[in-house]
Amino acid sequence: MTTNSYTQTSLFTSLRKNIREVVFKSPQLARLYYRMTFSRPVLPHWVGNNYYRETSSWELKPHLCPCDVDFMQYLEQEQIHNKTIFHFGTGSHHILGLENRKLTAANQILGITASVLEHQKYVSLCQENRHLNKYYKVLFADIYTLTAAALPMFDIVSLFHLGEFYLTEEADFVHHDDQSLVKMFLSKLNPGGRILFYPGSVGWGKVAEFIDKCEYQGKIHKVAEYNSLLVYQK
Ligand SMILES: C[S@@+](CC[C@H](N)C(=O)[O-])C[C@H]1O[C@@H](n2cnc3c(N)ncnc32)[C@H](O)[C@@H]1O
Repeated sequence: MTTNSYTQTSLFTSLRKNIREVVFKSPQLARLYYRMTFSRPVLPHWVGNNYYRETSSWELKPHLCPCDVDFMQYLEQEQIHNKTIFHFGTGSHHILGLENRKLTAANQILGITASVLEHQKYVSLCQENRHLNKYYKVLFADIYTLTAAALPMFDIVSLFHLGEFYLTEEADFVHHDDQSLVKMFLSKLNPGGRILFYPGSVGWGKVAEFIDKCEYQGKIHKVAEYNSLLVYQK
């Protein structure tokens, strides 16, 4: 890159950053920004939950977010078959459900998404392929509304996006925040069950201290690190 084009690129980047800083102070402006740039919001914080849920949709981007690919590889490497799995954040790619079907003894996976478009994609995948639904169910729901009474016991729980999506202004509509969500999922782990986190998440900074505290208090202990993932047991 020439000095000239480097200067232009860094000017453009800093201009875009300045625009975003102003725009993202107001949900209305933030929504307008996403409409005008034909882009999809990645977090609900700037645009509000309704807009996020209606318009967000996450395609597979392992270079930015390798957690689902690593999770699938981890299941294969550890020969985790025929188990009951909870998965936070399916993405529109639904790779976990699609790859799981290829295992000789597929796992029973319950995934969750807060995105209308990701859920619609799940529905159309199930219509195209009647076998998918047999081992892969996807709830369209806010994970923070789940309760122990509404869930079965699990052998594996992935909470990769912990810390990313909780909004304090939504507290009246949900049962949990990030910390109580972890406690609830720990209560749903079968003996020997594993709970997986993704420290590369943008939300990890908000929850890392709490996870360390759980470990320090002996509520969980780390049993493995697999690529981008941390694996704990009770
Ligand atoms: C950044 S995407 C990542 C998707 C996938 N795990 C991946 O890494 O490719 C975040 C995922 O979390 C889901 N999500 C966001 N907020 C949620 C919430 N409150 N409850 C349930 N799922 C939520 C989104 O719908 C989306 O599937």
